[in-house]
Amino acid sequence: MILSIESSCDDSAIAITEISTCRLLFHKKISQELEHSVYGGVVPELAARLHAEALPRILEECEPYFSKLKAVAVTSTPGLAVTLIEGVVMAKAISVALNIPLIGVNHLVGHIYSLFIEKQEQFPLTVLLVSGGHTQVMEVENLENISTVAKSMDDSFGESFDKVAKMMNLGYPGGPLIQELAKGGERTKYNFTIPLSQSKLISFSYSGLKNAVRLAVEKGTTDDYADIAASFEHIATMHLIQKLKKYFKENPPKSFAIVGGASANLYLREQIQELLKPYGANLLLSELKYCSDNAAMIGRVAVEMYHKEMFSSLYELGISPKSKL
Ligand code: KG4
Ligand code: ZN
Repeated sequence: MILSIESSCDDSAIAITEISTCRLLFHKKISQELEHSVYGGVVPELAARLHAEALPRILEECEPYFSKLKAVAVTSTPGLAVTLIEGVVMAKAISVALNIPLIGVNHLVGHIYSLFIEKQEQFPLTVLLVSGGHTQVMEVENLENISTVAKSMDDSFGESFDKVAKMMNLGYPGGPLIQELAKGGERTKYNFTIPLSQSKLISFSYSGLKNAVRLAVEKGTTDDYADIAASFEHIATMHLIQKLKKYFKENPPKSFAIVGGASANLYLREQIQELLKPYGANLLLSELKYCSDNAAMIGRVAVEMYHKEMFSSLYELGISPKSKL
């Protein structure tokens, strides 16, 4: 079995995965959403302190599995430096105490493998990752061959939902709150501009849209919020669709997946499904409970890394806030 730890942002999670079957034997996650909600976003130092309390509590429940562990895996990149370190230090301590190898996992690869929890991996795959930290399109040949073909130049898709929710004093995380509010609004009421629509670049940008929404919020009243939310969600999604359409012209998809916390967005799922129809491409989605950050996806990657003996040195495994992908 492999014990895996996730602490890259505001979720403390530990999983136990059986190596031979990929079966998830244990998974527990303690989210800090409530604690960060009053600030309208994640406060890194507070997050680190909460991980320091939560991770040992979850680990205690894993004690019955200790004698069967063959490796310990941990998210080491990307994420918040002060929160990544909490998980990495714990993983190193377990590696020393139980004398088992250490596996450093890239969180973004974790999101890709959230598609395959308790399942066989299935490649090649074109993946859209939409989370709080990332908006990027990747071509995935296999675990070791992943190339990023488009990414955001500024804010991410999920982050823009968080910021718009903050403008409206709705709380954190903003994605589900905006999605809910948008249900009662009109998508065409506000004519926000689709970002980079005149540009040939296959890249994403959310800072301009965010500012346009800010002006609408400041001009309007709370009665306008549902329409603003619906129009924002529409344009934020159309931006992704427009750029994917452009990319597909040269690179028609066969298998396509949406992963990351914001892949839970229903309007985005609907629109992507429509976009894929002419290509006859199938759409892979993670189970809703594994879209947001979790340790099961880290454990699932670690099973593949274990088979390939992709172990990290105890002295060399560090943390890296920015991903190489
Ligand atoms: O993957 P994740 O849990 O953490 C990161 O790795 O960043 O993603 C969290 C992000 C947050 O920005 C949250 O607002 C967004 O995912 N999110 C959504 C929805 N559910 C979560 N964004 C849009 N619509 C949703 N339904
Ligand atoms: Zn994530």
